[in-house]
Amino acid sequence: MLADFRIRSNDPELMDNFLGDATALQRVLDDINNVNRILGGNSITVNMVARLIEQNPQETYTIIDVGCADGTMLRAIADHCRTEDIKTELIGIDLNTDALALAKKESFDYPEIRFLEQDVLRLETFDLNCDILTTTLMTHHFTDSQLDVLLPQFVRLANIGVIINDLHRSCIAFFLFKLFSLFFIRTETAKIDGLISIRKGFKKKDLEHLSTRLPQMYHYIKWKWAFRYVWMMEPKRPSTI
Ligand SMILES: C[S@@+](CC[C@H](N)C(=O)[O-])C[C@H]1O[C@@H](n2cnc3c(N)ncnc32)[C@H](O)[C@@H]1O
Repeated sequence: MLADFRIRSNDPELMDNFLGDATALQRVLDDINNVNRILGGNSITVNMVARLIEQNPQETYTIIDVGCADGTMLRAIADHCRTEDIKTELIGIDLNTDALALAKKESFDYPEIRFLEQDVLRLETFDLNCDILTTTLMTHHFTDSQLDVLLPQFVRLANIGVIINDLHRSCIAFFLFKLFSLFFIRTETAKIDGLISIRKGFKKKDLEHLSTRLPQMYHYIKWKWAFRYVWMMEPKRPSTI
């Protein structure tokens, strides 16, 4: 049966309830990292972080990455900030214990990064604060009604801004990914989840609709290669409201 791209799919991803061991998980995360590296997914978030930092000069920045998995994005942000001599405290949040164990191992040389095991749907149970909150390939895991609860929490946590980087729901992306995965993806889990993720992704109008629930923020939503949307939110300052 042909996939329907008119509405977001509610199908669960295999990774939502991953049954393999830590080695199997590492292979799937390596696949996801490869896709991001080849198609430039991580640089979208890093560039937006750089932009917010440039526009909001301060001594040091606390940055939270939600759904950090093995922490690749945080290390990319740390590398950028080290190059620019920007002081940071970086916090990765994920609910997957094995992914966080990998993240800690891979981030051994990054003392500015720490990790918290936490289900973001229960974020209100602890007190956190940051300057910038990023989340990549995570929001598509949630239904629109879960996002209606989650996004205001992200906005409350971040003083400077929120950066969401996620997939464009498109039949072209779906078929190109099928082709791409034949050559560049080794694990069946990443191949299957990649296709489910695209069907759970967003069209611009979905993001615009979600943004209307956050009138206290400026919203910048832009399509990026390869079939991503970046959605950056910044608080409207009192003088501009
Ligand atoms: C597709 S991976 C994306 C990983 C990484 N951000 C990237 O760009 O490659 C989604 C991540 O979100 C995490 N995740 C899903 N639901 C979550 C929740 N409710 N709370 C915290 N983390 C969650 C998963 O454990 C997984 O590591």
